[in-house]
Amino acid sequence: MAAPAVQISSTNPADPADLIGTFVPGGGIDVDRAVRAAAAAAPAWAGAPGQARADALARVAARVEARAEELAQLVCREVGKPIVEARGEAARTAAILRYHAQAALDPDGEVYPPGDGRSLLMARRRPRGVVGLITPWNFPIAIPAWKLAPALAHGNACVWKPSPLSPACAEALMGCLEPELPDGVVQLVQGGVDAGVALAGHAGLGAISFTGSAGAGASVARQAADRGIAVQCEMGGQNASIVLADAELGRAAAIIARAAMGYAGQKCTATSRVIAEHAVAADLRDALVAEVEGLRVEGPADAACEVGPLITADARAAAEAAVERGVAAGGRLLTGGSALDRDGHYLAPALVEVADAGAELAQEEVFGPVAAVLEARDAAHAVELTNGVRYGLSTSVFTRDLDRVLDLAGRLDTGLVRVNQPTSGVDLHAPFGGEKASGLGPREQGKAARDFYTSLRTILVSPAVLE
Ligand code: UN1
Repeated sequence: MAAPAVQISSTNPADPADLIGTFVPGGGIDVDRAVRAAAAAAPAWAGAPGQARADALARVAARVEARAEELAQLVCREVGKPIVEARGEAARTAAILRYHAQAALDPDGEVYPPGDGRSLLMARRRPRGVVGLITPWNFPIAIPAWKLAPALAHGNACVWKPSPLSPACAEALMGCLEPELPDGVVQLVQGGVDAGVALAGHAGLGAISFTGSAGAGASVARQAADRGIAVQCEMGGQNASIVLADAELGRAAAIIARAAMGYAGQKCTATSRVIAEHAVAADLRDALVAEVEGLRVEGPADAACEVGPLITADARAAAEAAVERGVAAGGRLLTGGSALDRDGHYLAPALVEVADAGAELAQEEVFGPVAAVLEARDAAHAVELTNGVRYGLSTSVFTRDLDRVLDLAGRLDTGLVRVNQPTSGVDLHAPFGGEKASGLGPREQGKAARDFYTSLRTILVSPAVLE
């Protein structure tokens, strides 16, 4: 497959006339070259002492820290992330690298009592070889870091294909990685679907990790299954915030408004449904409308910005159309939903009250500043509604009642349960991932990351001469 002639043009979502750069997308040949180069570099990297890998990752972290403001400004400009959040992402990227630098020195196996009482029976972790990484545009440096850092710490070589919507951020992160790592250990291939398909289907990979849409993730998983390699897919969400009758309503509304609409709702962990218990549904709805209407929709470079533009004109049109269909299907528009009359792909954050839990807005992921507002008869009904979607990433529950939290937490079908917290937000040292159509394979982040980036080899060593 020859590289497509069309270039990738990266533009600023807040100012589409601002061209950030043009990039040459890779095709099958480029992916093949990258996998071969990574494979050539992999054995020496896997064989290096853990301390050497730890030191290299710590030096990458130092470069990210030294360039943190520049990286944050680039994230803000290329994907429209509010600058305060972009600064947080740059800091988190460095922290992720430092965390996994230390993981390179963690115990790499376990010893078991042998069947004969005197042999040595152990299970030792070893790298998968070359891992393919496919990453989205919405966290253009943190998500790559939370795949690259554990992959490298545990001795793998990487071929990384970032989103074609954030190629400049990818190059900037590569600029921090490359000087500190042996040649060839990390390969960047820019490109879109073609490059992703070529990577996921490459015979030279030992594993592939993907973050993006459920549709693309399913095809990556199928390709991986065909080749019999390890696969990890982090996909969409249709995350609910449950507000129980005893919740602190004002605080709940403020948190939920930001979790749903912050960064224009473009997080897989964003709140897409607000499910309030009957007794407080009307009060919560009013408080939420007030909070959402009070959010600052500004240029993302403005430190006051809470809701920036959507990533592309098409993404905004799709979100607008989803709101229109939701209203046509019987939903009641509480606020927002129309494009703002200014440069950039802005949409006024939209809340739609929905009576039917099967409605599109209560089932599908919009990936924009849009949330459905639903009412539950009681806590049990709220759980039923929350679980009644194909996704299962994150749920938040607002309450002061510990007993109800303990009961609900056991019954929610999501990988994350967050009490009196937004559905969004991730602790880099704790496992992260979803159930059902939201996630496939071992969890990412924290100590869980090594379950994907290593495989276990069971070794039995017995004496040569039995006495
Ligand atoms: C966050 O909530 O801070 O693509 C991170 C995403 C998720 C990451 C969410 N994988 O939105």
